[in-house]
Amino acid sequence: MNDTKDTQPRISQVDLYIDDAELDAIKPSIAKRWLTEGPNAAELTEEIKKLSETRYAVFAPNGTLGLYLGLLALDLPKGSEIIIPSFTFYGSAMSAVFADLKPVFVDCYEDTYNIDLEDLERKITPQTSAIMPVHIYGQVCDIQGVMEIAKRHGLKVLEDAAQSFGVHFDGQHSGTFGDIAMFSFFSDKVVTMGEGAVLFTQDEQLYERLRLLRNQGRPNSGTFVHPELGMNFRITDLHAAIGLSQLKKLPEIRKRRTQLWDMYRDALWDTGDLRFMSVHPKSEVIPFRVPVTTAQRDDLAAWMQAHAIDTRSFFYPMHLQPKLRSEPPQSLPVSEKLSEQGFCLPVHQHIKDADVERICQVIRQFFSR
Ligand SMILES: Cc1ncc(COP(=O)(O)O)c(C=O)c1O
Repeated sequence: MNDTKDTQPRISQVDLYIDDAELDAIKPSIAKRWLTEGPNAAELTEEIKKLSETRYAVFAPNGTLGLYLGLLALDLPKGSEIIIPSFTFYGSAMSAVFADLKPVFVDCYEDTYNIDLEDLERKITPQTSAIMPVHIYGQVCDIQGVMEIAKRHGLKVLEDAAQSFGVHFDGQHSGTFGDIAMFSFFSDKVVTMGEGAVLFTQDEQLYERLRLLRNQGRPNSGTFVHPELGMNFRITDLHAAIGLSQLKKLPEIRKRRTQLWDMYRDALWDTGDLRFMSVHPKSEVIPFRVPVTTAQRDDLAAWMQAHAIDTRSFFYPMHLQPKLRSEPPQSLPVSEKLSEQGFCLPVHQHIKDADVERICQVIRQFFSR
């Protein structure tokens, strides 16, 4: 037994990697008295374009609104169906509901947790207008497979790339495959602006639509003649300044998260029934989380909590959400099993090697009781 359990400092599951670099980054905006989207956002756009090789990029205030903006730009028929994996964050589904679309949920693969292509194809009907594949936990789903199905059925694709900034599939940056893609910069993301998101498109017309929709129906601010309908999806230049600072840290973040991921796997690969997420052979991974499954999830999570180690459970499936479930409820067994058996181990820049050793020891103790 571990009798040090009450005396050890708590290890959090997520923690931000922000410091004086971000503080220094926002100071010039204050000194210049410029707060709304401006020079920092323009610079960040160029940096993101260089890093990802996307043709076009525009910001949104957060990922959920970013998906909503992307759906508005795609101009899909009202009431048409959009296929979304059930194993995702609520915001994916909500963006569709608020855009007057009908989400149709599909299952995922048990090894990669990403969209099941056979189930996706089964769920396509004459009412389907689009697919929203989601790249889960820092890897990219089989996006080439999704694009092939979409092309064959004449469907639009909005990639929910909230969790896959900086991650490539077959050498190509995630989010550059679909018609539009969204990356979230929420506080727990690998690169953060606190809140915020960026949308990619490779299509000039879609880019122009996104620009008009996000800026009150006009291409640039400074005029009160609005040629199109539009809302306000701008960000602030303070957020962009933080984004610029975070982007410089991405190589270091990628390196450390990969080290932590490897350390966990090396230490725990043969421990009880614990299973790590597999990564698609064509996908890179920047571990946004370190997700694992075990039939004893609740007991293990409670054990770790008692040993001052925070964990995080997986998503609750969309097809069972109180406001989204059908009657009788649909069955998507893999999403349900993941939700019951999955949880995430701590991963962030403040985790020391010794923390990983302690976490792994506590887990091994649990399985050898
Ligand atoms: C897969 C996925 N989609 C959408 C979102 C929504 O992004 P945001 O929190 O920036 O609104 C998130 C989460 O943050 C997410 O993980």
